[in-house]
Amino acid sequence: MKEKLENILKEAQQLSHHIKNSEDLENFRVKFLGRQGLLSEIIKNIKDLPQEQRRELGSYFNFVKSEIQKIYDEKKEIILKPKTEYFDPYHPGEKIDAGRINLITKEFNIIREIFSKLNFNIEIGNEIVNEYENFDSLNIPPNHPSRDLWDTFWITKDLKNKNLLLRTHTSAHQVELLKKYKIPCRFVVLGKVFRHEATDQRHEIQFHQIEGVSVGQNSNISELKSVLSYFFENYFNKKLDILFRSSYFPFTEPSFEIDIECIFCNKKGCNVCKFSKFIEVAGAGMIHPFVLKQAGIDYEKNFGYAFGLGFERLVMLKYNINDIRYFHSGDLRFINQF
Ligand code: FA5
Repeated sequence: MKEKLENILKEAQQLSHHIKNSEDLENFRVKFLGRQGLLSEIIKNIKDLPQEQRRELGSYFNFVKSEIQKIYDEKKEIILKPKTEYFDPYHPGEKIDAGRINLITKEFNIIREIFSKLNFNIEIGNEIVNEYENFDSLNIPPNHPSRDLWDTFWITKDLKNKNLLLRTHTSAHQVELLKKYKIPCRFVVLGKVFRHEATDQRHEIQFHQIEGVSVGQNSNISELKSVLSYFFENYFNKKLDILFRSSYFPFTEPSFEIDIECIFCNKKGCNVCKFSKFIEVAGAGMIHPFVLKQAGIDYEKNFGYAFGLGFERLVMLKYNINDIRYFHSGDLRFINQF
């Protein structure tokens, strides 16, 4: 029986090297120390031996049992002890991509600030307007050929049976806001407009405009010129020559296209300005009496100016972007540059 005990101990010692996880540990315990384990079998037999042998084997049994228990306890300590994580204070941290402010928002914030300094109230307006706001209130009646200037995304009829559409220009808010503010007033509307037209490097179906409106005693063409000069100088951080070209809009009289000197060639002529030395960035003019009348303003005594800047075209000039379609492409290679 002593030999049996020696073999059990040897086996336990050999098996201890293969205990790798809690399952191995439990199997080990059941096999040697469990109620029906190998040692329990032996103790049953020892009980029946004569007293002399019982004492001798009993003490050897206790030795073997405590050795096996020691193996078990040591392994248990290693396997069940919670592992402390190794922390290396010098390991470089993981870079978190926190995102950034989109170029459109960033530039809008700058533009908003410039006009705030000039005492213009900031408005955004709704992207969905009705036919009256976008056309009729601006002296563009149904079937008037000038409606063709703005190819339109029509939506549906509203409750008053007026056609709804995605605004084709921010001028759609002129009458609504002139009614809201008391004269004298100054406001800019910054927002997205939509046109159903073919896209190319300089034309998108959705783009942004900055509509400026000023009505009051000093709201004349020379003030319009100085407001725009101030804006361009502050936006491009450079004093630029401005050209007022005579043009036509049904809601302004007289009307102008506004060009700024080509910032790529400093008025020497290049491919971007097509050697004209200037680049068109806005439409403008003195607000037509018809529009003032729509807003309930006495057009005999009051006058004002309005301008509509193409936002993306300004940003393209500032950052040398050669295709307007990048703005809404969602291309990270473009977005991440700014
Ligand atoms: C207008 O939209 C007039 N509402 C502007 C105006 C306001 C005139 C107040 C008088 C008084 P126009 O269609 O020209 O005008 O557009 C104004 C500017 O928007 C253009 O100078 C150009 O910079 C930009 N723009 C026009 N069409 C597009 C387009 N498809 N994609 C990108 N920018 C455009």
